[in-house]
Amino acid sequence: METVYITRREHFNAAHKLWREEWSDEKNAEVFGKCSNKNWHGHNFELFVTVKGHPNPDTGFVINLKELSKIVKELVIEELDHKNLNLDVPFLAGKLASTENIIIEIWKLIEGPIRMAGGELCYLKLVETENNFVEYYGGREPY
Ligand code: NI
Repeated sequence: METVYITRREHFNAAHKLWREEWSDEKNAEVFGKCSNKNWHGHNFELFVTVKGHPNPDTGFVINLKELSKIVKELVIEELDHKNLNLDVPFLAGKLASTENIIIEIWKLIEGPIRMAGGELCYLKLVETENNFVEYYGGREPY
């Protein structure tokens, strides 16, 4: 059977800063640069969720995109949109709010529910700015 990869894009706005309390202001500025600004800064994040599977003979779908969107919206977007990632989000509590850390936590939240909906999560991309994004394959090597 043919394997097809299908991707849903979702979007959220959020504020954060990259900061370690145990470091001096100077060290935070040196390591994190502008991202360490004490009074926060925001991004328009884009999240790409890719699911792998075989098209269902009855529907032609790998996964129903409405269902995939619902999972991502309920578990991720509702939790992150218009929030302060350092202060407001339980699943990021105690973690440095870098895109790398965020994408790993997002994977943990949606992998199981996507499986329950008949799909296999295989790839996430989280875009922070036009020039910066991270990719995650659930800890596996992609190729
Ligand atoms: Ni930032």
